[in-house]
Amino acid sequence: MRYDFDEVIDRRHAPYSYSIKWTTSPQIAKMLGVDKIGDHCIPAYLADMDFRGAQPIIDAMHAVAEHGIYGYSAHWCAEEYHAAIINWFKRRRNWVIRPEEIVYVNGTVEALKQVILAFTEPGDGIIIQRPVYGPFTGVTHATGRRLINNQMIEGEGGYYTMDLTDLEEKARDPRAKLLLLCSPQNPVGRIWTDQELLEVSRICRENGVLIAADEIHGDLIRRGAEFHPLAAVADPSNLIICTAVNKTFNLAGLHCTNLVIPDPALRERFLASFGSVGPSPFTIAAVIAAYNEGEEWLEQLLDYLDGNIDWALAFLAQRMPQVKCRRPDATYIMWLDFRAYGLSPEEIHDRIYNRAGVLLEGGHFFDPDRGGGFERICVPSPRSILKEAFERIAAQFPER
Ligand SMILES: Cc1ncc(COP(=O)(O)O)c(C=O)c1O
Repeated sequence: MRYDFDEVIDRRHAPYSYSIKWTTSPQIAKMLGVDKIGDHCIPAYLADMDFRGAQPIIDAMHAVAEHGIYGYSAHWCAEEYHAAIINWFKRRRNWVIRPEEIVYVNGTVEALKQVILAFTEPGDGIIIQRPVYGPFTGVTHATGRRLINNQMIEGEGGYYTMDLTDLEEKARDPRAKLLLLCSPQNPVGRIWTDQELLEVSRICRENGVLIAADEIHGDLIRRGAEFHPLAAVADPSNLIICTAVNKTFNLAGLHCTNLVIPDPALRERFLASFGSVGPSPFTIAAVIAAYNEGEEWLEQLLDYLDGNIDWALAFLAQRMPQVKCRRPDATYIMWLDFRAYGLSPEEIHDRIYNRAGVLLEGGHFFDPDRGGGFERICVPSPRSILKEAFERIAAQFPER
């Protein structure tokens, strides 16, 4: 089946949409730092795609709806659930997962929070690597843990690397208990090399630091790039890996994260803290359909996303050459560097959000100290929407 990713679907006013991304609610306006979100505003701040999903997933959820009874449900009541996950990662990543290693949690941020609560105590250190997805900071603070920042090194052309010397120093602190690793990285788009992953794994193992690897962007990789799950590369004994259909298949509203916890003792401790809740029947059906029958949709999506990213980079090169952005290895996220304009973050914000009516996510969400002058844009939208957003932004930054 051929999918039409150019189709513009109304998510702002459509019944049954309930979209956070497209809402005009004052709550989101406040979060984004704008007075009001009008109908003219184009939201590109959330990692949430504006494409209709894979038909087999839609069909599976229809079938559940038709069944008409939505009682308590659990993934362990559906053998195919585990098989679908296991086969997906074996087929696409050569990563072998055993059924008992899979633990369902209702969302990735929730999972990271539960991992922190299960394996660390108030005051313990959680290592994160900024700039990084804002809730890594949020869950650390919300759980009363101490944030340890292993700042990434910004290299030539926006190529970020980990500061492994600094990581080793910070991991040596006996109070450092957990590393939240973002792989592939949001917002800078890096796929870590095997070498980097092996070093991170060694450093953490030698210093008794657990790794929670958030790999939920791992299916959204550029053509020609390769993504290796940490557990397929390194010793899995101190790893908890987050996998999800949320980003891959645009099912974030189902809040479905499947942790993989290979070590039986870690798994037992996690389950003893939180038990295993069950996903809704819609979620169970969607996961099975996505991993068993969603590949055709995903392959077409990956081509479309590459096209969007290449279009955006060409636009920037031609129309806004002062904005720097490295082509991400993975994700549909672009980390835009406006610093060459020499404007304050407030001025950049005002031009993009208020005057252009394009809603992005400011760099300070990812790095409160050094994020000024950066804006993150998510580009999984029909190209016509993307073009309109970039044209409007460019109009606010005329070349002298
Ligand atoms: C790296 C990363 N982790 C977690 C999340 C949120 O995932 P969930 O909706 O499953 O909590 C996002 C969403 O953008 C993300 O980019």
